[in-house]
Amino acid sequence: MIKLHDKYFKPFISAQQIDNAISRLTQEIATDVGDEIPVFVGILNGSFMFASDFVKKYPKPCEITFIKLASYEGLKSSDDIHRLIGLTQDLTDRTVVILEDIIDSGKTLYEVYRIFKNEKVKELKIATLFFKPEAYKKDYKLHYVGIEIPDKFIVGYGLDYDGLGRDIPEVYQIKMTQHMTNLVLFGPPGAGKGTQANFLKDKYNLVHISTGDVFRHNIKNETALGMLAKSYMDKGELVPDQVTIDMLNAEVEKNADANGFIFDGFPRTDAQAEALEKLMKDKDSEINAMIALEVDDEVLVQRLMERGKTSGRADDADESIIRNRIKEYYKKTAILKDYYSARNKYFGVDGEGSIEEITERLSEVINAL
Ligand code: IMP
Ligand code: MG
Repeated sequence: MIKLHDKYFKPFISAQQIDNAISRLTQEIATDVGDEIPVFVGILNGSFMFASDFVKKYPKPCEITFIKLASYEGLKSSDDIHRLIGLTQDLTDRTVVILEDIIDSGKTLYEVYRIFKNEKVKELKIATLFFKPEAYKKDYKLHYVGIEIPDKFIVGYGLDYDGLGRDIPEVYQIKMTQHMTNLVLFGPPGAGKGTQANFLKDKYNLVHISTGDVFRHNIKNETALGMLAKSYMDKGELVPDQVTIDMLNAEVEKNADANGFIFDGFPRTDAQAEALEKLMKDKDSEINAMIALEVDDEVLVQRLMERGKTSGRADDADESIIRNRIKEYYKKTAILKDYYSARNKYFGVDGEGSIEEITERLSEVINAL
């Protein structure tokens, strides 16, 4: 792992893989260009290393020049306005191949096309070493693509993060999150999950994500995902896991600098546990533990009956309903207990005693992670 400014990056594409991609590109292009002498145009700054290695490998005579697209300075929306520096050569009737280090949104490419519109070149082709298909928003054809990569920030091999990293001979990818502690908190109704989540959240500076709250929030605020979820609920259908996962993902991204998360109310099935694992993996993290509060049935019934006297929740007042909810809980969560046990991530914690005693037991588990 390396650190540039405030961010961490992990090894992503080796020098050898880059070398192979460039060899392939030179072959493809040389075959297409035939006996003509092409003019390669590198887009500075990012493409200097790629352009250099590319022409060294190009098997036939060629020319190389560079242009630079610079934003006008002193303007607020400098992102959108570019001028071109360096195109002095007459390119009339020449076969021109643009060498880009990376194509992301395609904004730069749009500018390149705009600039070359006035040049009477014979042919304009685009070669890019890296390409992020998920980020690409234009429909210009990319004639030659070295390596397709996910929509995550990379550095090295000419590419920088705020000035640093261009000199690195291989490519590193940003590490989204560092050293998080992510918990799935479980417990039958009445086990004191909410109370304990509150203590743990403050003690470890974690973000508590209660799936129920997230749903209510999205629906109340009529977010796109909330409306989508509601459309299923209105039809009496289950909300697809992906919608829930997308909502959780939004919560995680909103709190990307958190020390970790406490998930509460999710996952409920193996498939959801897998989906959550994948979500965390995309953030370069993982679920570290499922912690289940274990409380004897009779104690739960007593606690809930007690709560029912004051909470006004109808489902807290009726003993047979309470017993049924507890039974349902064990039936549903047995699967998850197995899932996390198999990965050595299941921790049962005695949920009887004073609030402080239980927090203490939970802390022991968390501290040992
Ligand atoms: P565009 O969005 O296709 O116009 O890409 C714009 C420019 O953003 C590229 O030429 C790079 O200079 C820069 N860029 C895009 N993605 C990355 C990245 O992952 N790392 C470093 N620079 C990037
Ligand atoms: Mg560039």
